Amino acid sequence: MVFSQRTVTCGGLTKADDGKRVVLNGWVHRERNHGAIFFINLRDRYGITQVVVADDADKELSDTASKLKMEYCISVTGTVRLRPEGMINLEMSTGEIEVKAEKIEILSTCATLPFMIEDENKAREDLRLKYRFLDLRCSGMQKRIALRHYFVKAIRDFLSARDFYEIETPTMIRSTPEGARDFLVPSRLYPGKFYALPQSPQLMKQLLMCSGFDKYFQIARCYRDEDARGDRQLEFTQLDLEMSFVQRDDVLALMEQLFCHVFKQILDYDLPVHFRRIAYKDAMNQYGCDKPDLRFEVEMKDFDALAAKSTFGAFHEALASGKGAVRALVAPKTEGVEFTRKYIQELESAAKIYGAHGLAWMKVADGKLNGGVSKYFEGMDDEVISSLGAGEGDMICIVAHPQWKKCCTSLGAVRSKLGKDLKLIRPSFEFCWIIDFPLFSYNEDKGHWEAEHHMFSMPQDRFIPTLESDPGSVLGDLYDLVLNGYEVASGSIRIHDVELQRKIFRICNFSDEEAEEKFGFLLNAFRFGPPPHGGIAPGVDRLVMIISQQESIHEVIAFPKNTFGVDPMDGSPETVDQKQLDELHLIINYPKKEEKQS
Ligand code: AMO
Repeated sequence: MVFSQRTVTCGGLTKADDGKRVVLNGWVHRERNHGAIFFINLRDRYGITQVVVADDADKELSDTASKLKMEYCISVTGTVRLRPEGMINLEMSTGEIEVKAEKIEILSTCATLPFMIEDENKAREDLRLKYRFLDLRCSGMQKRIALRHYFVKAIRDFLSARDFYEIETPTMIRSTPEGARDFLVPSRLYPGKFYALPQSPQLMKQLLMCSGFDKYFQIARCYRDEDARGDRQLEFTQLDLEMSFVQRDDVLALMEQLFCHVFKQILDYDLPVHFRRIAYKDAMNQYGCDKPDLRFEVEMKDFDALAAKSTFGAFHEALASGKGAVRALVAPKTEGVEFTRKYIQELESAAKIYGAHGLAWMKVADGKLNGGVSKYFEGMDDEVISSLGAGEGDMICIVAHPQWKKCCTSLGAVRSKLGKDLKLIRPSFEFCWIIDFPLFSYNEDKGHWEAEHHMFSMPQDRFIPTLESDPGSVLGDLYDLVLNGYEVASGSIRIHDVELQRKIFRICNFSDEEAEEKFGFLLNAFRFGPPPHGGIAPGVDRLVMIISQQESIHEVIAFPKNTFGVDPMDGSPETVDQKQLDELHLIINYPKKEEKQS
């Protein structure tokens, strides 16, 4: 197709271009017809330029202009001129000029739009995803996709300058148990055999260390067959990274430098040189979760001793077994918010989701404890108020539970809700490291220990002698990076010793035969001089989501699946032809209840 190709973009013209003859290519963002004059806002990736078809236009030009509709793709040839006084729009980079059209070519027309192309598309999500190619034209999406590009570029630049190699690893691998369910790819050549899509390149990057590539990274696609939610996708992207001859602090320091560089580059935002480190246990005790939002100050306090001194039976019961806990926090008096019964019930509901039986509360009025459970603290007003640092008008919230973790997470949910409701959250980026995680957690349903992170993480040295006799108390050399209440990266120093790795497999209920069958290739590599190594994997989508202040990961992925794992645009997942199934030697055994899906 022959057409006039652009000489400039729609975001590039300024008053310095006055008088210049230009060609613009783009989409009709808005068009207004003022009698004999047409105004067209022409848009491309770079911006919007106002095009005018003046009243002296010839018939062909004004006929073409009168045919234009929103999102027609057109080419405009014309001359730049200054906008008249009063028509200047300083909010647009091109707001001081307009292009007086001499020729307009319609490159393609546009069907009825399912929604308007606006800065932020307010249409319902499935419609946005069905017409994602249009949704992506909205300037909010355009900016976020651009931000994502610059984010990844800044990472690549930083790591390349520090001797890292970017190495691709296969996306069809052996299925290995790694936490989530694998997506499987049936083999045509080997009936009954499957590849798996990697949940992460974990084992491959460890093998690369065994190959001597001591600084590796990859912008890696990962696939996990798990329920999607706001900050999760079935397929997502990690900055996967591994280094040899390092200790934990080397990995943490590199990441701190990397994020300082990236935030400065793309946001001109100064992060602190070092991120706060919080032990897992302290994070649970103080914030009620292992991904604390540090953008607001409210902290939970150990209330065991004061609860034991109170006359409240429920507190005593929670502490009786020795495994329980009582934790308290202070909800600060906030203008415009009343701590009414109804609101306290809402807080209680948030706590109950995590297992709390109830939420105890009392207020501080005239320097004394008031209402709620205050009657059980007779004569203890000053002690309670000063130990919690509560002030006049504040409300004290308390959770007691016979299980320490449930106590903490329940009150943690109250803390999160207060942060939002009382508008305590500062607009900032608060990174922290969570360290000293337990290496194992006990799976009550399966009746055995499981790796808290994954099975390749190193126990801290001091726990190696008691690894098998007391797995529950073993802390691992693993770490999470947390940003504004989200886990944005996870990593560890890895095991590189065959015997220790076998021991971990055994504790996680893998017999030596099973371990050999599933992970033989890794164990084999460990027989040939493996270096000590460790690494980490920040989630790219999640980080870009937070940086661009979005609540859903969908907002930073060009073509995401919806929360049901479906792509409303291409309709995947979809059935395939019988011929394809036959080639793969597959017979579908449909679930009983559901009829064959078509
Ligand atoms: P992990 O499973 O903790 O560790 O993942 C690391 C980071 O990846 C991101 N992430 C996700 N993002 C979007 N959707 C998902 N479904 C999803 N799952 C995880 C998160 C998370 O912090 N191999 C190890 C890393 C290592 O040890 O080096 C791993 O994958 O930001």
